[in-house]
Amino acid sequence: MERTFLMVKPDGVERGLIGQVISRLENKGFRMVAMKMLRISEELAREQYAEHAGKPFFDEMLSFMTSGPVVAMVWEGRGVIQSVRRLMGATDPAQAAPGTIRGDMGTSISRNVVHGSDSPAAAEREIKLFFDSGEILA
Ligand code: CMP
Repeated sequence: MERTFLMVKPDGVERGLIGQVISRLENKGFRMVAMKMLRISEELAREQYAEHAGKPFFDEMLSFMTSGPVVAMVWEGRGVIQSVRRLMGATDPAQAAPGTIRGDMGTSISRNVVHGSDSPAAAEREIKLFFDSGEILA
């Protein structure tokens, strides 16, 4: 069964949107198999977003992602990676369709409430970065 990594970012936690994000995935029939709240270290943020290193927004993104707690999760279901991408909507909330998480709740391109894996390789990498195998339900 396919798995993806999903994170409620510091803006989503601060604004009390954790439950709404979880509800949308539960309503869609996906199963949560791991969850933890944590404050991301700069080292972990650099590793998670390594592909963006050197981009103009990288430093600001690092400081935002480490500014407060996040909720990291693993979700399971058929086609869950692409389906969660569609539920999240476009990266920039101004472009995200109404009805999507970012379209309905996001306030700016960095404060866009959630992060989700964009491919099977990214899902595998991000899940390993945040969870030990024993922390994920069978
Ligand atoms: P995310 O899906 O977490 O992956 C990379 C993040 O970089 C993206 O969401 C945005 O929140 C953040 N970001 C900040 N500024 C920009 C930008 N100008 N272009 C793209 N992504 C940006």
